[in-house]
Amino acid sequence: MTSVKPLSAHKRLLEWVDHWAGLTGADRVVWCDGSAAEYDQICSDLVESGTFVALSDERRPNSYWATSDPADVARVEDRTFICSRRQVDAGATNNWRDPAEMKATLTELFTGSMRGRTMYVVAFSMGPLGSPISHIGVQLTDSPYVAASMKIMTRMGQGVLDALGEDGDFVPCVHSVGAPLADGEADVTWPCNADNKYIVHFPETREIWSFGSGYGGNALLGKKCFALRIASVMARDEGWLAEHMLILKLTSPLGEVRYVTGAFPSACGKTNLAMLIPSLPGWKVETIGDDIAWMKFAADGTLRAINPEYGFFGVAPGTNNKTNLNAMLTLSGNCIFTNTALTDDGDVWWEGMTDEPPAHLVDWKRHDWTPESGTPAAHPNARFTAPASQDPAIAPEWEDPEGVPISAILFGGRRSGVVPLVTESFDWDHGVFLGSIMASETTAAAAGAVGKLRHDPFAMLPFCGYNMADYFSHWLSIGSTGSQRQLPKMFYVNWFRKGSDGSFLWPGFGDNSRVLEWVFERCSGRGEAVTTPIGLLPAPGAIRTEDLDLAADAMETLLAVDAEGWLGDIPSIRAFYGSLGDRMPEKLVSQLDNLDERLRAGG
Ligand code: GTP
Ligand code: SPV
Ligand code: MN
Repeated sequence: MTSVKPLSAHKRLLEWVDHWAGLTGADRVVWCDGSAAEYDQICSDLVESGTFVALSDERRPNSYWATSDPADVARVEDRTFICSRRQVDAGATNNWRDPAEMKATLTELFTGSMRGRTMYVVAFSMGPLGSPISHIGVQLTDSPYVAASMKIMTRMGQGVLDALGEDGDFVPCVHSVGAPLADGEADVTWPCNADNKYIVHFPETREIWSFGSGYGGNALLGKKCFALRIASVMARDEGWLAEHMLILKLTSPLGEVRYVTGAFPSACGKTNLAMLIPSLPGWKVETIGDDIAWMKFAADGTLRAINPEYGFFGVAPGTNNKTNLNAMLTLSGNCIFTNTALTDDGDVWWEGMTDEPPAHLVDWKRHDWTPESGTPAAHPNARFTAPASQDPAIAPEWEDPEGVPISAILFGGRRSGVVPLVTESFDWDHGVFLGSIMASETTAAAAGAVGKLRHDPFAMLPFCGYNMADYFSHWLSIGSTGSQRQLPKMFYVNWFRKGSDGSFLWPGFGDNSRVLEWVFERCSGRGEAVTTPIGLLPAPGAIRTEDLDLAADAMETLLAVDAEGWLGDIPSIRAFYGSLGDRMPEKLVSQLDNLDERLRAGG
């Protein structure tokens, strides 16, 4: 191994790096300083090796196109493990393995797995450096693509190593694509080990070991692995919340400001809502975060949220100047595009970007593509990796180390029926209940079937690092400790209701501002609501639609209580609750019984 000068004097960190460099047999160790020069070097190496294609300087400056192995295109939930000492602590919704056994299996796989490759030491901060809400991790990775992506997605490099000092705490994250190179062996453009993927979390010791995949949440370990699975455990232990939520700033025409978070499952609209351009005149939405929120109560009793990330790893297909202009502007340069198509003039394209596809493209499998090809040019889970600071709608306070005070929490899934456009919870416990019964149709963000309805409580099914029943109890406890706490209001929303012809009843995107207005008004003690068995629904006319071209009766359907539909859902919710085991909080079971009763009583 080439010896390198470490950029830290942290003894535990140095020993840990040495240990893994030795075990994996890495050729070289590179400590990332996080500088622009280093990023440029890694990117030009990636161009040289063929992983990156540099995009046109005129069209997309300082940006790159990458394509993955077709067997490595999304998160792999069935290969994701929570290795707590006791299985019950991982709970019914997680894949569990004994930590010692898992470490033995993985140690074998990691042995020699970086031969012929460079191991990058990537120190990163989730959250602004120095924020009381932030936490530090260090990722070892043999993927330069991942090292470059971490520079966009996190605050990374020397500043973090300096903050760690000689004995600071960090979450150790080890990542290998699991594709060692023999002497002289040529590399492929997307090395991975498709048949041996392991995305592994050790919640008690707060460690992450990831093997075999180079894609997204499997490999950028600060994101789902740390900021959600490990952080949710830290949050449970320390009384805060680590959630799969966007954070937005909403300003009314009178200049009043409120901050709102929203939990929607993967590819169900967080990035779009966080960057929304209101169709309602006078309203303004600005972005704080698009995927993850860490929330803690401050001394003044407000629930303060930070976005632990530094960039967006967003769904490309469907993004265009009409649906999400702010995203399109964010992507004007300094980005990495993965599994989109490549245009003949050195730019990227994906389904939905333009009405007419280009006449010729190179598709995400690097094959020639024309509109006659009959296959999508971009993979449905094609993603952009973009600096958050480039979002024209980024709120000035997005890096405030104190976080922003949250007034409302939205929960929402993809439901073609039953769930109304928006429902306000009666109170905190009922809001937790609404979060716990969320269900949503699966998307291409994870490997497996698309469009299958499943329970996805709080949009955390794939991301909760511990027992889901305990997670529910944690949410209940947040609402019950201390009367000086200012609890946000909670709302259940659904942009994805369909009419009998199969098309969306609600226009969505910028028109979701109409729902945000009602949420804002409710938080301000205004806004008309009617009490129904399922919660508080907007009174007729309380959501402004006068200038909207909606299908006849659309609003009636969108805001109706489909009692039969809800009663039809209850057995599956009951079964889901039942599957979560003995630790399921009694309070939520009573909430379900009460809903059942109210629906049967018809009011
Ligand atoms: P992850 O990054 O996977 O967590 O996804 P996300 O929750 O940020 O979802 P995103 O905003 O990227 O949206 C995913 C898909 O849903 C895109 O194709 C969007 O165009 C589409 N979408 C987002 N918002 C709406 C909406 O209000 N209505 C409709 N019909 N589609 C939407
Ligand atoms: C999600 O699946 O919720 C994502 C994409 O945000 S990934 O980072 O791959 O998890
Ligand atoms: Mn996500």
